Amino acid sequence: MKTALVTGAGRREGIGFETVRQLAQQGMQVFLSARSVEKAQQLAQVLRDEGLNVSALQLDTTDPESVTQAVRRIEEQSGRLDVLINNAAIMAFTPVTDFRTDLDAVRQQFEANLIGTWRLSQECFPLLQASGDGRIVNVSSGAGSFWDPDFGLVNNPGFEMSKFGDVPIGSYALTKLALNGLTIKLAKDFNKAGILVNSVCPGLVATYPNSPGRPVEDGARSVVWAANIPATGPTGLFFRDGKQLPW
Ligand SMILES: NC(=O)c1ccc[n+]([C@@H]2O[C@H](COP(=O)([O-])OP(=O)(O)OC[C@H]3O[C@@H](n4cnc5c(N)ncnc54)[C@H](OP(=O)(O)O)[C@@H]3O)[C@@H](O)[C@H]2O)c1
Repeated sequence: MKTALVTGAGRREGIGFETVRQLAQQGMQVFLSARSVEKAQQLAQVLRDEGLNVSALQLDTTDPESVTQAVRRIEEQSGRLDVLINNAAIMAFTPVTDFRTDLDAVRQQFEANLIGTWRLSQECFPLLQASGDGRIVNVSSGAGSFWDPDFGLVNNPGFEMSKFGDVPIGSYALTKLALNGLTIKLAKDFNKAGILVNSVCPGLVATYPNSPGRPVEDGARSVVWAANIPATGPTGLFFRDGKQLPW
């Protein structure tokens, strides 16, 4: 039985929770992790009640001790990890006033969206190597691509998503741009161990009240696709709904 870990799965409306559900429905044993252990336990129980093999795990990717403990738990319980879904992110949009950005907020966002993902991925390396067929999916965004026609940086919506309510999302977009770079780096670093690493955009998904977008099931399906690519499949690339996106 394959083992998977999903980060940032502590919101019932979120892509992480639905990704846990879909991976478990495929027969995987899934660790549902969240910063709050209570939320993780509560939501893992919801999925166990659906007959799925889901365990709760406390995991804050910005806290090295929390990462160490989580990796140890997976090692003790499963001895290996087949799929790591780096879904956790700070989605909040950094305030911009008169061309000044709150750089402390930017730093926190990079800490979670880039460094936390990097930390967890490298700490999971021995477990993914033990799988012999590991997959890492970095949940990214078209907002962090240069050329995505709908959300990308060059056409501006990545910096000013005005058609979705005039919200400046520059710092968030830059963390996802950096995350895409990390995908390329890890794909190269981990290639010899048979670990395939890709970025996935879930599309615009309605995960908050009144937010625009498609149903969460569709967003999670885009992520789960990359967890299931064959050993001969792509690595170090960027996808949405199984189709390659430009960087
Ligand atoms: N929704 C969209 O339209 C959309 C589009 C493109 C990409 N994405 C990406 O999809 C992913 C999921 O987004 P979502 O829409 O489902 O929103 P979300 O529910 O806010 O998902 C992000 C989760 O990450 C968690 N998190 C934040 N910092 C963390 C940390 N340091 N350690 C562990 N967990 C942490 C949050 O946990 P708490 O509950 O504890 O705050 C939250 O539950 C994100 O990577 C997002 O950037 C979403």
